[in-house]
Amino acid sequence: MIAVSFVGSYPTVDFRLEPARPEICVLGRSNVGKSSLINAFAGRKALARTSRTPGKTRLCNVFDAGVFYLVDLPGYGYARIGREERRGLQRLIRDYVAERETLVGAVWLLDVRRDPSAHDLEIVELLDRRALPVLVAITKADKLGRGRRKQRTEAILAAVGLPEDQCVVTSARTGEGIDDLRDSIFAFAGDGDA
Ligand code: GTP
Ligand code: MG
Repeated sequence: MIAVSFVGSYPTVDFRLEPARPEICVLGRSNVGKSSLINAFAGRKALARTSRTPGKTRLCNVFDAGVFYLVDLPGYGYARIGREERRGLQRLIRDYVAERETLVGAVWLLDVRRDPSAHDLEIVELLDRRALPVLVAITKADKLGRGRRKQRTEAILAAVGLPEDQCVVTSARTGEGIDDLRDSIFAFAGDGDA
């Protein structure tokens, strides 16, 4: 198990981290399970705050994973907040992915039960524009049986145009796929031994 600690929460993308390290961001629609996955990744129950109510994370929450920082970004696509705030969060995500120099890769979460939304497809464009390595984490796998899960994963990957070897099927609830996810994330950060 690796030690992961909370560093801070930032409302804009020009925050400075000491020491400087590569950053890996966690992206996904509101309520997809970003904070839960970070907790599972860290083997901690309440490192990142989770909630039944979508739109819980509205800042860039930074976690120190030793050789890299993990950045929990606000969820997109949440309808029940004011338009101004929603635009602000979208801008934050876009600016972070487009401009953050220390960003080396993205973990993009997609719910096993949902077809990718228009907002999800905008993320593909954003990642493409920067040619950023991306790992898809299918979330909440425990909600479906094995066969259905496989079908849904294939459909989701086809919709976003990414290959199976860039995808890990996970459940923060049962711990499924979390070791694979950890290995893939460390490989991203250029540390294959972890
Ligand atoms: P925002 O911060 O609002 O963008 O949400 P988030 O993406 O961080 O989601 P969060 O981790 O807060 O989880 C949202 C809800 O989904 C919570 O009720 C979680 O308990 C639930 N959830 C997260 N991961 C899983 C999972 O693997 N399985 C199941 N069954 N539920 C999950
Ligand atoms: Mg969250």
